Amino acid sequence: MCGIVGAVAQSNVVPILLEGLRRLEYRGYDSAGLVVVHDGKLERIRSTGRVVELTGKSTNTQGLIGIAHTRWATHGIPSERNAHPHISKNQIAVVHNGIIENYEELRSLLAANGYEFTSDTDTEVIGHLIHSHYVQGKKLLEATQAALAELVGAYAIGVIAADDPDRLVCARRGSPLLLGVGDSGLFIASDVSALLPVTRQVVYLEEGDVVELGRSGYRIYDAAGKKVDRVVQTSELSNESVQLGEYRHYMQKEIHEQPQALANTLESVCNSQSLVPGIFGAEAAATFADIDSILILACGTSFHAGLVARFWLEEIAGVRCNVEVASEYRYRTSVPNPKSLVVVISQSGETADTQAALNHAKLLGHSHTLAICNVPESALVRLCKLRMLTRAGPEIGVASTKAFTTQLAALFLLTLVLAKQRGRLTEQQELQHLNELRHLPSATQMVLELEPQIAVLAEKFANKQHALFLGRGLHYPIALEGALKLKEISYIHAEAYPAGELKHGPLALVDQYMPVISVAPNDALLEKLKSNLQEVRARGGELYVFADANTHIREVDGVHIMQMPEHAGYLSPILHTIPLQLLAYYVALQKGTDVDKPRNLAKSVTVE
Ligand code: M6R
Repeated sequence: MCGIVGAVAQSNVVPILLEGLRRLEYRGYDSAGLVVVHDGKLERIRSTGRVVELTGKSTNTQGLIGIAHTRWATHGIPSERNAHPHISKNQIAVVHNGIIENYEELRSLLAANGYEFTSDTDTEVIGHLIHSHYVQGKKLLEATQAALAELVGAYAIGVIAADDPDRLVCARRGSPLLLGVGDSGLFIASDVSALLPVTRQVVYLEEGDVVELGRSGYRIYDAAGKKVDRVVQTSELSNESVQLGEYRHYMQKEIHEQPQALANTLESVCNSQSLVPGIFGAEAAATFADIDSILILACGTSFHAGLVARFWLEEIAGVRCNVEVASEYRYRTSVPNPKSLVVVISQSGETADTQAALNHAKLLGHSHTLAICNVPESALVRLCKLRMLTRAGPEIGVASTKAFTTQLAALFLLTLVLAKQRGRLTEQQELQHLNELRHLPSATQMVLELEPQIAVLAEKFANKQHALFLGRGLHYPIALEGALKLKEISYIHAEAYPAGELKHGPLALVDQYMPVISVAPNDALLEKLKSNLQEVRARGGELYVFADANTHIREVDGVHIMQMPEHAGYLSPILHTIPLQLLAYYVALQKGTDVDKPRNLAKSVTVE
């Protein structure tokens, strides 16, 4: 979603802002813009194209202070007039990520007071509100604080004023923003990757923080307006990890990083001989002893990880588990169970719906909370009592890949720890699971070797309009994930069904034009699945089967087999995900879509 970069520096900030925006492109956007103060005036450039076009337009722009933005449209179509920064009366410029809920009411009030609106955005009210306080003699900081007090909703903002070229004010509530402390200046950004060329020293702002950045330092005020100190941390994010390297797309790179990402996530466990609750935090042992069930809240791919985990948790650990889409849970009347462990799963840790669902659960009296997340300093991690960090490294492609498989690894560890604590795991079983986990990175590497075959297979999908994914049991969520990947990046309509459901409706869709992709592990449901596949063949459907060794599903006319190297038991969903990621990737290449930045989507969905 929207990305913010800002700088107060000793040299021209325009290259810093543009490079920052380029690094935030992965978040998803449809327009971009920047503004600097030059000779006491605000100079703004905006573009509905890519950051590279903005760069082309900025050759004559310079200033020692500026703010910049990539916009993902919420209020108003993607257009230059709706692109940020927004300017009030040539004096105040603002960039914003989030949604202002009371903007219509504020817009009417401001319009009645003579403010002209030149966009359809909710953001424009912020600039005018700050201006309305600024012209009454308040300093930029105080004017911003006064305006923020009138806003309802979520925001991360950066603000500058034409007649105050040494001051940048920023604030956050509900949307991510951090401060960068460099040798050559002070910076703000939506995430740390934007600032790596200028600094690694960062301050993660808390909810409600307002910051004044000047040439001689910065001051942070908390939600109550009290001056506070926040820790300056050194980001460990490496510059290389956000570079494309030898790969054509970030998605391809991230699919290939899975063996390493899994090895990193499992590192502490695989180096030891036994599992301990401590990997989820100091209070984990006591918390796990006090719970009688699990409630998983997540969105999209992370939700699918939760669906797989439900099978593991109930079957191996014997713990009752519910999995809910966060955006639904937050608004439905549910029956709270304070003895339940609320597990939020998220790559970014900033997904607005998942955050809201967690807060809702807490309000209902749930105090046992665990975050499974890929971003250590994210909101969800800070909001939960327990945490397990997936160590996938930065995920740039909008389609989640390595985040998903590492989430599964973390959820499997949770299952084993709970099973052990409940006396459901013998020492021998524990060792066997640990051995299987140790083998997982190399098993993943072997599956990646199917890539050339899948690239060829993908050619058959280039002209398809629809696809059906089938799975059973533990692998039904993998079918869901395969369908999500395909629709997200190739724009082919894809649906997933538990194979046993076919004859209850979707079989009506099957004919020679409908490709049916099936996940076929060599597990207890294999024979049932084979019967379901016969039902498809009997209707002329073209089958694409990802089959484990020894499944004895034969390649015949209309049945294409992709042979998986081995059967990985409970860990099989992790391995079966990978060919489906590759299939989506190569189909998208065939279709020529924007793989890493699919239309209409954003990487971190920080608004509702
Ligand atoms: O950052 P999160 O894991 O909370 O994001 C949740 C979803 O928005 C995300 O998984 C989305 O579905 C992906 N684009 C799927 O590839």
